[in-house]
Amino acid sequence: MPAQPASWPFADLGLDRPNAARMYDYLLGGSHNFAADRQAADAVLAVAPDVGVAARANRAFLRRAVRYSLDEGVRQFIDLGSGIPTVGCAHEVAQEFDPESRTVYVDVEPVTIAHARTLLHDNPNVDVVEADICFPDLVLRDQVTRRLIDFAQPVAVLCVAVLHFIPGDVDLVLAPFRRIMSPGSVLVVSHATPIRTTAQTIEVERLYQRTPTPLQLRRPDEVLALFQGLDLAPSTAGGSDAGLVPVAEWRPDIDDSQTGQTIADSPFIAGFLVGVARKPTPIAAAAPP
Ligand SMILES: C[S@@+](CC[C@H](N)C(=O)[O-])C[C@H]1O[C@@H](n2cnc3c(N)ncnc32)[C@H](O)[C@@H]1O
Repeated sequence: MPAQPASWPFADLGLDRPNAARMYDYLLGGSHNFAADRQAADAVLAVAPDVGVAARANRAFLRRAVRYSLDEGVRQFIDLGSGIPTVGCAHEVAQEFDPESRTVYVDVEPVTIAHARTLLHDNPNVDVVEADICFPDLVLRDQVTRRLIDFAQPVAVLCVAVLHFIPGDVDLVLAPFRRIMSPGSVLVVSHATPIRTTAQTIEVERLYQRTPTPLQLRRPDEVLALFQGLDLAPSTAGGSDAGLVPVAEWRPDIDDSQTGQTIADSPFIAGFLVGVARKPTPIAAAAPP
């Protein structure tokens, strides 16, 4: 392999070690990944081919959740742990619906950030914050967030396939967002849970232990608690159920039905739970009788 130029932006970033962000990009069919990422992702796929399907099902859920938010009148998005904004990402869905909609991508991984900045530099309604979401105040105070997001208006906070890479009390990540959101805002979460533990899932967990971000599975009740004070949207349009559902089952599109049907039994889909919730209007501020 030829030596990298002295100005190569990714020198000294530990690219010889697999990284979950870039493994995910590879699983989605993206090109922003390196040999160590591809080897690690291929090792995961060799054990559990469904993980690639689960990654695509997760991205498809993210797109449906953004469309739901747009239908609910939301035009601003904060995508926490966004990954590289390619292969059908939040701002593309939002701007197709309303070109004036605004999106802030937040990620901690330097290669992801560098690629995101390159991809988005000529899009004035989208920008990137490099931050660890374990410090949510830094995200909220960042000048990019302050320029693009008006918290007096509804905002959708996307927290998709990221919290299961964060140890400890992840409600500390979400509580400041729930507090600052205005009524009508939306919280979107997808999270891997251990409800379908198999030899395959144990092996995949072991492989992720080799990355800087091992998996931190949480029980469904722990994931549900992240929506406290919000109203969960039914998982079917017009339905009345309000709980978490597997990633492929939240308001699936016709195009997604193949995913839902063929791999519904996969532990990587059945245990990958999602929820979408709206912040209600406080009772005192509701319309007068
Ligand atoms: C599996 S990818 C999910 C990408 C995107 N949210 C999606 O679902 O399509 C997880 C992303 O979370 C990011 N991430 C992990 N821990 C983070 C942290 N503490 N702060 C910010 N981003 C983080 C990773 O760098 C990676 O890009």
